[in-house]
This record gives sequence, structure tokens and C-alpha cells, in this order.
Amino acid sequence: MRAVLQLALALLALAGAQLHAADSAAAERGRYVAVTANCVSCHTRAGGEPFAGGLALQTPLGTLHTTNITPDADTGIGRWSLGDFQRAMRQGIAADGSYLFPAFPYTAYTRMSDAGIADLYAYLRTLAPVRYTPPENDALFGVRWPLMAWNALFLQEGPYQQDPAQTPEWNRGAYLVQGPGHCGACHTPRNLLLAEDPARALQGGVVIGEVAPGLQRSWFAVNLRNVKHGLATWTPKDLSMYFAKGYGMRGASFGPMNEVITNSLSQLRPEDQRAIATYLRSLEDAEYVGPVVSAAEADAGAGIYKKHCAECHQANGRGNFLKAPALAGNAVVQGESSASLINVILHGPALAESLRYGAWEEMPAFGKKLSDDQAAALANYLRGSWGNRAATVRAEQVAAQR
Ligand code: HEC
Ligand code: HEC
Ligand code: HEC
Repeated sequence: MRAVLQLALALLALAGAQLHAADSAAAERGRYVAVTANCVSCHTRAGGEPFAGGLALQTPLGTLHTTNITPDADTGIGRWSLGDFQRAMRQGIAADGSYLFPAFPYTAYTRMSDAGIADLYAYLRTLAPVRYTPPENDALFGVRWPLMAWNALFLQEGPYQQDPAQTPEWNRGAYLVQGPGHCGACHTPRNLLLAEDPARALQGGVVIGEVAPGLQRSWFAVNLRNVKHGLATWTPKDLSMYFAKGYGMRGASFGPMNEVITNSLSQLRPEDQRAIATYLRSLEDAEYVGPVVSAAEADAGAGIYKKHCAECHQANGRGNFLKAPALAGNAVVQGESSASLINVILHGPALAESLRYGAWEEMPAFGKKLSDDQAAALANYLRGSWGNRAATVRAEQVAAQR
């Protein structure tokens, strides 16, 4: 009898240990899911604990603060069941039934797999609970019910569906880009009701980013498709290197992309970086047919380019392996919005501490050296040279980015 009891206890302990091992394996996988989804960038305020929230996001509807997603029972999500968490990720509904603003990119996270969401939940539960309540939100004066109607119009709920005509690598890349990576949250233009326009997926979008406490600036998250004003000049290798290190001969990270590289893309497994590259390269699209800079407008900036830029980027715009990326065929230069191009010229790329581009010397800011007219002329030279095609930049557009 005693032996049987002992055996039963031993079996129970074994089952418990296995359960524990399964939990920690899920949490370990979930740690990586959190990296692919970059939860930490938004859910951490300057100087605050990771995942404890409180970061202010400026939206056209007002200021939103990210929530505390550590497992603290009172101020975090410690009381949330897996079902509550799944509903938030797939439908943007909090545990108490209130609707969340789509600044939380649940319209992308809804594409995540059930297993991915469950692993993420297991990981978040292993974090140390932090007692912290973020400030109140003033977006829409705190009224949330219109979001129910917004979801009815724009949320296409449900996990990513594999495309059997494509390779597993391509499907993995599509999953990462459309689901956890939420690239479209910045790189897809939004309609009047602030929903991503599915007909223009990844064709480039304007985003507002905070460059210093209280100072907002708009940026253009470039066209990621395989078009001349997008990523046509990037080989899959160029893209993988950019994801891993933040720079390469085709372009380098600055502005809101710095956090995406630092906290997410650079920490992905090399095969996932390659999968994203493979998927993006496959996105064919129509070439740009809009208005372009005239020869006279481009000529007006030629002298400024020779004087200030050619030393690093070369007279032919092809860049220099030891100094700077190419501006010919560059997506930032040819952006539908010139916001990021102007920011780089006026303010320099303002690299994050974590991003150092090998032997490259940091590009200086030219905002004090160039007037609005000169900076516009320079931008037009870049947009109208070496086969680049894009609309004319006006001095007022430069002034708006000062
Ligand atoms: C682009 C910024 C952004 C990213 C990235 C982001 N969130 Fe959020 N999240 C928000 C904002 C803003 C809110 C608050 C929305 C509101 O108040 O309506 C929020 C709310 C939430 C909530 C609701 C919590 C509550 O108490 O109501 C959960 C859960 C959550 N996020 C989890 C996550 C997880 C997990 C990830 C990574 C997979 C993530 N978020 C990534 C911005 C973000
Ligand atoms: C928070 C907004 C944001 C998110 C999310 C985001 N990006 Fe970006 N991205 C930008 C901005 C702004 C730029 C233009 C500035 C720059 O080049 O750094 C950019 C630039 C890029 C570039 C081109 C760089 C160049 O110099 O031409 C690539 C490639 C890129 N992003 C890929 C991605 C991928 C892949 C994802 C999803 C995993 C992603 N981005 C998610 C904002 C974002
Ligand atoms: C000292 C060398 C140097 C000089 C001079 C210089 N740049 Fe740069 N430039 C760089 C480096 C390095 C980068 C990559 C850093 C980054 O984008 O984060 C860069 C990036 C850029 C980018 C962003 C490209 C992309 O896709 O990420 C643009 C646009 C640009 N430079 C334009 C100019 C213009 C216009 C001038 C002249 C006013 C100029 N640069 C002068 C070194 C230089």
C-alpha cells in the first residue's frame, strides 16, 4: 500500500515537473514572439521598467498611454486569463470588455497563430510584476464605444492563412510582416478613419514620432514594395544585413525605424531576417507615374550637393562602401512624402546609441547651413537625378520639418 502511494506521489511529481518544463519552454518561445512583435518599444516609457507601460503616443485623436502588461494583479494584466489575452490580441477588447484604440496594433496581431499568442501569454506571466498605473488617456475624451463600429468596418479578424503556392520561407516572411512585425502600422497609408488601406499595403505611410520630450516630427515610412521608388535596388542580402545591423549600401536606419531595428529586427534569427527579405522582394507593384521634378528644378540644387554631400555619397549618387549609402534608387529620397528626406538633411540621421554603422562617420545636420529654399533645391536635385523619380519639394515643406 505504502509503495503504491509512493509510486503515485512520484508520478505526480514527475507530471508536475513535466508541466513546469512545458511552461518554461512555452515562456522561452514566447520571449522570442515578444521580440518579433516589439511589444517592449511601446509598452516602456523613458526610464520606466520594461513592459510596465506609460509611454505617451500622440494620435490624431489625442494622447494615448500604453498600459502596464506585467502580471501585476491590480495595475497590470495579472488577472487576465489566456482567453482575455487572446481576445485583446485578436479583437482589441480588454478584459473588462472595453474597446482598445488601434494604436495598439491588434489589426496586425490578429494574424498571429494561436500557439504564438499562448506562448506570448506564458512569457508575459514570467515577468516580475510591476505596480504602476499609466496616466489617463484623453483620446476621444475617453469615449470608447465608437471603436466597436470601427472594428466592424476595418478589423479583419483571424490568424494568417498559409499560401500553399508559396515556399515555407515566403510564408514565414509574410506571417512575420503582416502579423507580429506589424510593418504596415507605419508603412501602409491610412484612410480618413485612420485604418490601414488594404489596397495600398506597404506602399509607404506618414508617421508621427517623438524626437525629444514633447517635440513631434512627421516621417515617411518608405514604400517597401519591389518598385523603383521602393526597395527595387535592395537584394535579399542587402535587406538581411539592414535588419541585422541597421545599415547597408541601400540605406540606413534613422528616426522611428531605429527602435524597430534595435528591439526587434536585429534580434531575429538569421533565417527569419531572410524570410522577411524574401517576402518583401516578392511584392511586385505598379511603378510611379505621378509628377516629377523638372530638369531646371533639379539643376538648382546641383552645386549644393557637390559642396556638402558628394564627398560621402559620391557625385554619381552611388554611395561609398566606406562612407555612406547610395542615394540613387533610394526609397527615402523618392518618398511619396519628403518628410524623412528633409529630416535627414536638416537634422542628420540622429543615430541611436545602439546603432553604429561600422566605419561610417555620422552624417552631420545641415539645418543651420541651408535655408528652406536651398534645402528644397537640394532635395529636388536628389529626387530628379540618377534615374530617381518623385514630385517637387517646396520650401514650405522644408519649413514644416524645422
Ligand atoms: C505601436 C505601439 C504598441 C505596440 C507595438 C504594442 N502595444 Fe499594446 N497597447 C498599445 C496602446 C496604445 C495600448 C492602449 C490602448 C487603449 O488604451 O485603448 C495598448 C494596450 C495593450 C493591452 C490592453 C491592456 C489593458 O490593460 O487594457 C494589451 C494586453 C497589450 N497592449 C499587449 C501588447 C502586447 C502583448 C504587445 C506585443 C505583442 C503589444 N501590446 C504591442 C500600444 C502598443
Ligand atoms: C514605428 C514605425 C515603423 C515600423 C513599425 C516599421 N517601420 Fe520601417 N521605417 C519606418 C520609417 C519612418 C522609415 C524611414 C526612415 C528610415 O529609413 O529609417 C522606415 C524605413 C524602413 C526601410 C528602408 C530604409 C531605407 O533607408 O530606405 C525598411 C527596409 C524598413 N523600414 C523595413 C521595415 C520592416 C520589415 C518592418 C516590420 C518588421 C518595419 N520597417 C516596421 C518606420 C517603421
Ligand atoms: C560625412 C559623410 C556624409 C555627408 C557629408 C553626408 N552624408 Fe548623408 N549619410 C551619411 C551616412 C553615414 C548615412 C547613413 C546614416 C543613416 O541613414 O542612418 C547617410 C544617410 C543619408 C540619407 C538617408 C539614406 C537612407 O536611405 O537611409 C540621405 C537621404 C542622405 N544621407 C542625404 C545626404 C545629403 C543630401 C547630404 C548633403 C547635404 C549628405 N547626405 C551628406 C553620410 C554623409
